[in-house]
Amino acid sequence: MTDTLPEFPGVRAARCPFDPPPRIRALQQDGPLARVRLWDGSTPWLVTTHAEQKALLSHPQVSADVTRPGYPVSAPRAGGGSLSFILMDDPEHHRQRRMVQGAFTVRRVEGMRPAVQRIVDELIDDLLAGPRPVDLVEAFALPVPSLVICELLGVPYADHDFFQDNSRTIIKRDVTAEERAAAGGRLLEYLDALVAGKLAHPGDDLLSQVAGRVEAGELTRAEAAQMGVLLLVAGHETTANMIALGTLALLRHPGQLALLRGSDDPKVVAGAVEELLRYLNITHSGRRRVALADIEIAGQVIRAGEGIIMANDVGNRDPGVFPRPDELDLTRDARRHVAFGFGVHQCLGQPLARLELQVVYGTLYRRIPTLALAAGLDDIPFKHDGQVYGVYELPVTW
Ligand code: HEM
Repeated sequence: MTDTLPEFPGVRAARCPFDPPPRIRALQQDGPLARVRLWDGSTPWLVTTHAEQKALLSHPQVSADVTRPGYPVSAPRAGGGSLSFILMDDPEHHRQRRMVQGAFTVRRVEGMRPAVQRIVDELIDDLLAGPRPVDLVEAFALPVPSLVICELLGVPYADHDFFQDNSRTIIKRDVTAEERAAAGGRLLEYLDALVAGKLAHPGDDLLSQVAGRVEAGELTRAEAAQMGVLLLVAGHETTANMIALGTLALLRHPGQLALLRGSDDPKVVAGAVEELLRYLNITHSGRRRVALADIEIAGQVIRAGEGIIMANDVGNRDPGVFPRPDELDLTRDARRHVAFGFGVHQCLGQPLARLELQVVYGTLYRRIPTLALAAGLDDIPFKHDGQVYGVYELPVTW
């Protein structure tokens, strides 16, 4: 009986790399909730509509605790390897999140704009002085957010190959549980050593503040290191994918790219960022949760202990909220998108992600107006196997 259920995550259509898998997308037409089948044979609920996703993501009886029975895990897990407060419930989630949220307020982040602009400008200078074609992921999309988060956290950028490689492994779906746990372990060890260094010699950075919490007895060293891993991984991998995939989407929609390139109005650029976040929704594995009590929603009852996945990529294509949802339209008001999630776990770093994307999208195509793909769509390696969608490489020229 469960054999007939759609598999989640599904497979994207070959010629539509920006659209959610058709079989999953089609479920939205049948109603807000459907059952799907995961890699381990479990059959959680998949929530496909915008309103119901928001309702469940802010429901007090919906848990993000990955250790609870029934939680719909995306891949085999080996060992603890917790990803810090993103996988915890309140009050502990709130207690830990509060310790770092001051660094991510819109005001604090806005103060970083000149530094981010400088990083972007220098990387573009290097691109223009270097050979072509060039892989935009390696030469630009990964360095921008990595440099920014290293600066904020106080992590040496010289270690970028190490932390980028291991981050990629922990968010890949098709590695073994042992490989993923080993990569997580290496990152944890690395962050633990950094926290130890900050305890001995505190600096003017976020990791030193976190270390201060350890000194004050508010956080264990292990918790501090886990928090460091979360911030470092979430802080570079997601934004890097939005930079590269966003560039690909724009190059494939030249009319939209011309709109963006033709305007220096910050509002136009900010609007483009929101629409690209909505349209691409790179966190394509869904927001995963488990019900703590029976929950009645949209004429169904989700039983206590059942898994729930909010497919936010599909929610962002809900025609009731976004007319002509499958069109990339940089002029639409896309601010209600759920690409950063919703509720208590809504992305902590969103002001920083927005700032980085605004600087990148507002600068790159104006400084290199002839930027073009140096490969056919079929030759571009998409991250179908990753929990975060994007491209492994993006060969470009100008
Ligand atoms: C375009 C880039 C980004 C996207 C699309 C994105 C997306 C998301 C999403 C969907 C969640 C919610 C997870 C859930 O509900 O299960 C989340 C949480 C989180 N994000 Fe981001 N993110 C981005 C950039 C960043 C950056 C730059 C940081 C900086 C450190 C960051 C740090 C975090 C943290 C710490 C959480 C956990 C929040 C919590 O559990 O309270 N993210 N992100």
